[in-house]
Amino acid sequence: MSLRLGDIAPDFKAESTLGHISFHEWIGDSWALFFSHPADFTPVCTTELGKTALLNGEFTKRGVKAIAISVDSLESHNKWVPDIEEVNSVNMNFPIIADPEKTVALLYDMIHPNASEKATVRSVFIIGPDKKIKLTLTYPASTGRNFTEILRVIDSLQLTANYQVATPADWVHGEDVIIIPAVSDVDAVAKFPKGFTSVKPYLRKTPQPNL
Ligand code: BEZ
Repeated sequence: MSLRLGDIAPDFKAESTLGHISFHEWIGDSWALFFSHPADFTPVCTTELGKTALLNGEFTKRGVKAIAISVDSLESHNKWVPDIEEVNSVNMNFPIIADPEKTVALLYDMIHPNASEKATVRSVFIIGPDKKIKLTLTYPASTGRNFTEILRVIDSLQLTANYQVATPADWVHGEDVIIIPAVSDVDAVAKFPKGFTSVKPYLRKTPQPNL
């Protein structure tokens, strides 16, 4: 059965381009962005891994560690890394897991046989410091992911984790957020000192609390 939001992300041990990884230990107290790509030496994947390396400072700022995986070997990953660095003018500053036996790919249901029997699809898992899955996304091989959207979701998830707020459609960092219905108006006065506006009794907006 596929993994669902709130499930504990399965732990595993694997080799990566930055050494042996024991997944939960590697995550530690951070958040994790764990994502699969179909294959090394492919065009879309080359741009995606480069983009992640370029954005790694943004992930680090948010306490997020990025880690990629495909069913290629460590030898293949290590041969491909210089291409990613050259094409995207970056240093590969996060690990790529080698999973030639498909052990981790199967554990995370990253192989969708009706799309491809051999390769992983573009799965995304955002995992919290509690090791629980906070977000899943699945893209086809032909569509490169929007890593700016992934950062946006992380911002939203971390606001929810730290304050009792949710984020509206198309929200971006800096815009007003929504007070979750579980907070009463009386409690909201104390919790949200910047004030709030009731558009409807169930839709109350407040300035982003961590700014
Ligand atoms: C790519 O990364 O470009 C790619 C990989 C597998 C299928 C199609 C595209």
